[in-house]
Amino acid sequence: MASIYIETYGCQMNEADSQYIADRASASGYAVTDDAAAANVVVINTCTVRDNAEKRAYGRMAQFKKLKLADPGVKLVVCGCLAEQDRDVMTGKAPYIDAVFGTRDLARLGDALATWRPEFGDDEIDLTQENLLLGKLGGHGDCVGDAYAHVRAFVNVQRGCSYFCTYCIVPHVRGRFDNRALDDILSECRAAIARGAREITLVGQTVNAYKEPASNADFADLLAIVSALPGIDRLTFLTSHPKDYTPKLAATMGALPNLNPRFHLPVQSGSDPILRRMNRKYSVAQYREKIALFRATCPDWALTTDLIVAFPGESDDDFERTLALCDEMSFAQAFMFVYSPRRGTPAALWEQVPPQIGGERLRRLAETIDRGVRAFHAPKIGTTVRALVQGPSRKDRSKLAAKTIDNVTVIAPAGALGEFELRERPWLDVSIDAVFTWGCSGEIAGIAARYDDPSPVAAARPTIDLVTAR
Ligand code: SAH
Ligand code: SF4
Ligand code: F3S
Repeated sequence: MASIYIETYGCQMNEADSQYIADRASASGYAVTDDAAAANVVVINTCTVRDNAEKRAYGRMAQFKKLKLADPGVKLVVCGCLAEQDRDVMTGKAPYIDAVFGTRDLARLGDALATWRPEFGDDEIDLTQENLLLGKLGGHGDCVGDAYAHVRAFVNVQRGCSYFCTYCIVPHVRGRFDNRALDDILSECRAAIARGAREITLVGQTVNAYKEPASNADFADLLAIVSALPGIDRLTFLTSHPKDYTPKLAATMGALPNLNPRFHLPVQSGSDPILRRMNRKYSVAQYREKIALFRATCPDWALTTDLIVAFPGESDDDFERTLALCDEMSFAQAFMFVYSPRRGTPAALWEQVPPQIGGERLRRLAETIDRGVRAFHAPKIGTTVRALVQGPSRKDRSKLAAKTIDNVTVIAPAGALGEFELRERPWLDVSIDAVFTWGCSGEIAGIAARYDDPSPVAAARPTIDLVTAR
């Protein structure tokens, strides 16, 4: 039967798009596979947020050229943000690519898959076949179709971004804010729940700026409505902008019992002149105020962030302020980046900080962040946490990786547990015996179908129940 392999780079926007591509492919009779070499169609869903993402995508394309040489019938397809940025030059740079689809062309990509389908043999399309939706994806990027992919659903609430931070390519490759209609979001959530999703992530570049075009519902309203859908287990969202974190949203977050206790609020820098030049629309003092409100309404939640070092013009003093703010905030996790100039963005034209200074600042920042991460993980030792299975650990396939609702990675030996049990009962109760900066490790003490189900070992576990503890 015809098969498709999809490799995804970048953020939740691309994850959600890959999910759409997999769904369209399945509906046209493709099996989703984790073996690129065996696929009729190979899709690379690319990112261009930093230079290394762009280089990686071109590197991957060059590697996939082998597949094309071995079998000229294979179709190599590139989509996503780099495809949008380089649509006019990509086939010049990589002539063996069959098709390039920009971020606004996803529906056309779905149509093309349907059109190509007869080229790959005319065996009967069997939509009931187990491996159709459940087939595996793997490889170097993140993939949509692994064995437990159905337990997590990424639902787009908005496309694009209109904020134009001076370093950022996203508005240029994804367009301006385009909020989806509430009904469309809800029907996608309902479909995900029907497919067995245990965790719905509402995604967008600034989800908390969401405004339903027709009803004027804002993001707090949206959260409340989605969290009340029949059958929903857990709900979370990515990413938020500090400017749009309102008292109403804070109160709603604190009140919804099935919202995951994690909040990602990128601060980028701890220095006002830098924030201004980044066009971030808030000051350090305003960020502090927002976090005070957050801590008061959502105690014990995980607060995570994004940071950029060596932004053009960042002095030693600016950088020290970032370190001081991170010390003060004690983030539970942070994504840290050295500034990477992007073509067509204002900051790319400004005087740059030398790369060796960027590397050194990143190292020092990581030390500071790690202190907060360790402090966040430490209390989990000796407790049992409930975590949603992700799949075999990349480093050791005999272990399972899972994520707690406060977004901490947990690793434990799988023992006899396999897909058969875990597809129905994907929540693992793990008694934690060691903590690291990357997460925690322990032993599996039980499994559960839904987050609120009683634990099979309830009597034995001093559980930190992040939901009822609030
Ligand atoms: N919409 C999100 C961020 C999306 S991009 C927000 O505003 O928070 C994810 C992260 O990549 C950003 O938060 C930023 O920290 C980083 N990033 C974006 N462009 C970058 C660049 N040119 N160089 C380095 N890091 C960058
Ligand atoms: Fe990029 Fe800023 Fe928009 Fe985030 S808010 S996507 S960093 S422009
Ligand atoms: Fe990358 Fe595009 Fe997301 S550039 S970070 S995949 S919006």
